[in-house]
Amino acid sequence: MFRQARWDEPIIFEMGKPGRRGHIVPQVEEEIKEAVGSVETILPPKLRRKNRLRLPELSEVEVVRHFTRLSQMNYCVDLGLYPLGSCTMKYNPKIDELLAGSASMTGIHPYQDERTVQGILEILYKLSRWLAEITGTHEVCLQPAAGAQGEFLGALMMRAYHEENDQVKERTELIVPDSAHGTNPASGSMAGFQIVVVPSNENGCIDLEALKTTVSKHTAGLMLTNPNTLGIFETEIEEIAGLVHDAGGLLYYDGANLNAILGKARPGDMGFDIVHINIHKTFGTPHGGGGPGAGPIGVSEKLEKFLPIPRIASSHEGYYLDYDKPHSVGKIRCFYGNAAVLLKAFAYIMSLGAEGVEEIAEIAVLNANYILKKLRKIAGLELPYGEGRQRKHECVFSAEKMRKECGVRALNVSKRILDYGIHAPTTYFPLIVDEALMIEPTESYEKEELDRFIETMKRISHEAYNCPKTVLEAPQNAAITRLDETKASHPKTMRLSWKMHLRRTGSS
Ligand SMILES: Cc1ncc(COP(=O)(O)O)c(C=O)c1O
Repeated sequence: MFRQARWDEPIIFEMGKPGRRGHIVPQVEEEIKEAVGSVETILPPKLRRKNRLRLPELSEVEVVRHFTRLSQMNYCVDLGLYPLGSCTMKYNPKIDELLAGSASMTGIHPYQDERTVQGILEILYKLSRWLAEITGTHEVCLQPAAGAQGEFLGALMMRAYHEENDQVKERTELIVPDSAHGTNPASGSMAGFQIVVVPSNENGCIDLEALKTTVSKHTAGLMLTNPNTLGIFETEIEEIAGLVHDAGGLLYYDGANLNAILGKARPGDMGFDIVHINIHKTFGTPHGGGGPGAGPIGVSEKLEKFLPIPRIASSHEGYYLDYDKPHSVGKIRCFYGNAAVLLKAFAYIMSLGAEGVEEIAEIAVLNANYILKKLRKIAGLELPYGEGRQRKHECVFSAEKMRKECGVRALNVSKRILDYGIHAPTTYFPLIVDEALMIEPTESYEKEELDRFIETMKRISHEAYNCPKTVLEAPQNAAITRLDETKASHPKTMRLSWKMHLRRTGSS
């Protein structure tokens, strides 16, 4: 049985003593004085900090032990299966980290003259061309920092397109399916659109008849992921694209599930005009805990002029930043985007090559369908929607039957999975599935690891029907037991930083 370490570890700000040091760094101030005369010559007094920074003072060994203890209370992709559906938590190859952490990457600055950063510009330029090829789009912009920011940018570009056609006043509606991720309606709404929801049919796909009655002269566009959040491929995608385009709208591809079709099918060929790519999912860069990510966006030829500036361009003299784009919607993020994350993706694609990239989709789909076949036999779990249809890279089970029969909910199952040393699947998403457990194994795991997960699910089902208390009170073996999730996410009670904690406790 798995047991996670439990350290009674204070916050680093509560540790140490004044005067304790790790390394003794040279007196920088003295060195500067020697070199340039006085610190004031290079840093005017008004820019210099008056108060001392309130930083913890610790020895090196204290810091190492602190973070080692914390890591022992954590779970990560390097430890085992992390089947968070939709999030695509795949293994992050260490070579990519090594490259992104190398001095030639960390030592450069985005304000440097572009002639001195030709290497990274070339990498970013090539990456954008590869992503255009992979997605079947004309041009790619690497700036957005996440899928959600790509969605927002895409929605702004839809507005710009309709504005150019003098239709922005009447094209006020953005259609999203009822299986959509919450960021889709949120991004559309932030860009000023009214969100219109279209239902799914019993196959788990967009209800085409309902879509026909939804599209109109008010349609700005449709946001869709394919395969969708049930893991089912929208086979009627060409009809969907036709309906939206005939009505004068644009089609936006939410790239969260691109892993399933990588190298096999391209959103651009399906009729999508705008596509985002979640680099941190599809191309194996680390994520979780809020970032950092990258959400490049690819567009068809007619939308290219609206992409953010600057664009990385190439001429016979080398790579340069092109600001001369009068129709651009502006900037969505500073500089070129999260360059280190993008470099990791570049290395990831390069190390796999075209064949390896295709294999990603094959193994991810194989793994998901293996799990699906095995879990179908487990008491209390049902597979809603799309009976008889193959899933792609993920499958969504419902624990509704288990809830009705023994009072054990999807949340309890997820908490109990932690006790067996496995990360929980995505729970309660998509919203159209009651008691949803959304499982995405990715291509990163061997059969033995998948079998361990299947065995764990069998055991939990057995416990639910024979000793529900064990599941209802889980986790018992994890470092942290049940959290007060409302308190953790309520703006009045959440404490996201030490400063916030001090403010909340009245100590600052
Ligand atoms: C289906 C889907 N769409 C969009 C997003 C948003 O992507 P990001 O987290 O990169 O902002 C997610 C994130 O998990 C997702 O699962």
